Amino acid sequence: MTNSQETLTVRDNRTGEEYELPITDGTISAKDLSRIGTGEENPGVAVYDPGFTNTASCRSAVTFIDGDKGILEYRGYPIEQLAENSTFLEVAYLLIYGELPTEEQHEKWVHEITFHTFVHENLRSLMQGFRYDAHPMGMLMSSVGALSTFYPEARNIADEDIRHDQIVRMIAKMPTLGAWAFRHGQGKPYVYPDNELSYTENFLSMLFKMSEQKYNADPRLVKALEVLFILHADHEQNCSTNAVRSVGSSQVDPYSSVSAGIAALYGPLHGGANEAVLKMLRRIGTKDKIPAFIEGVKAGNEKLMGFGHRVYKNFDPRATIIKKACDDVFEVTGVSPLLEIAQELEAIALADDYFISRKLYPNVDFYSGLIYEALKFPPEMFTVLFAIPRTAGWLAQWRELVDDKDQKIARPKQIYTGDRQLTFVPASERWK
Ligand code: ACO
Repeated sequence: MTNSQETLTVRDNRTGEEYELPITDGTISAKDLSRIGTGEENPGVAVYDPGFTNTASCRSAVTFIDGDKGILEYRGYPIEQLAENSTFLEVAYLLIYGELPTEEQHEKWVHEITFHTFVHENLRSLMQGFRYDAHPMGMLMSSVGALSTFYPEARNIADEDIRHDQIVRMIAKMPTLGAWAFRHGQGKPYVYPDNELSYTENFLSMLFKMSEQKYNADPRLVKALEVLFILHADHEQNCSTNAVRSVGSSQVDPYSSVSAGIAALYGPLHGGANEAVLKMLRRIGTKDKIPAFIEGVKAGNEKLMGFGHRVYKNFDPRATIIKKACDDVFEVTGVSPLLEIAQELEAIALADDYFISRKLYPNVDFYSGLIYEALKFPPEMFTVLFAIPRTAGWLAQWRELVDDKDQKIARPKQIYTGDRQLTFVPASERWK
């Protein structure tokens, strides 16, 4: 029984009729609005919400965000604590299975992920078939999509054991595919996984190993990469997660759903933002050009990339943690000249009323690009470095979707604005 306080009374002024709609968890059901109609011409009210700015598409227990307070929690654990004390693989387990692993579960999980890092040789040939200058995100997206053809059993999404195998495979193989996409662009031989190394050490080895017997990564860089991976592991219903859920709602296999997520992440307004930040900083070039650049942004000529967020309207907690990781990385690599421009740009923007009044603050991408550049990654690789850890979040959300009895195939409504009932005139008559 609904508490009458927990309802919304809507009066339809077209008919004078009143409707009482239950409010559950701060939302009304869009379906309830469909009762509010005036007959055949106006069958029921719907919600118009391009970009889903105020529409909940699911119930989720994976990630909590309070954008006003700058809070981010995975399964209830604050991101700051996880970044400080956990590892990426432990966080991935937490996200996907909802609980921190026991010692035994953790050992099994790490073992499984470590021993699924190799990919079928035909997938290697597929990657080698790309043009020399192929964007690594395009290569990653296609090769993850292609994985579905190597594991056709993945279509059986109702079987928990089969689901688990695909989850392990995807988390394990993502660094291999990402590293190979990177080596491809450099014309260097692909490096096979080294199963004696940790997840992030192995990734660095596949990226940078040359003729040495074993690749020894600087532990400070390994730690920085772990932190970056943890920060990027999930972010509730963002554009790419929504793509994974939307495609997954058709009950397709998880490789296809995740490749849709990679496609969404590729876009400059989402994961492509850190690449865009670096390009922007290079274009600005020197500190004296910053004021003119800011004026251009305020005039609406372009956006200040790495600023603003749909959810965080005070600060992005990930940006705070990443600033610290920046210091650690620069201790190893030396300071990037672009850092000074970034810091000055941030200071000017944060003091400017245009940005203050619109609640625009640096997001995670503002600094992650600088770290990646210091680690000698070309900008095209930045989004790949985002996609690898986000795979854990996509899979956690996908698993939740598959088990959610409320979910249906995603199919939004539209408001039709085109012509109606035109009479077709054949080309032979139109072109006379
Ligand atoms: N630079 C300048 N102005 C901006 C910026 C920006 N980066 N972001 C928003 N604005 C302005 C908008 O023009 C708008 O101004 P108006 O009210 O005068 O029209 C106002 O601020 C509100 O912006 P919206 O576009 O309505 O905000 P929305 O929530 O839709 O967009 C987004 C969020 C896409 C992140 C946006 O801030 C943006 O494009 N930022 C730059 C790209 C970026 O850094 N993306 C990374 C996001 S984080 C991530 O994906 C990991």
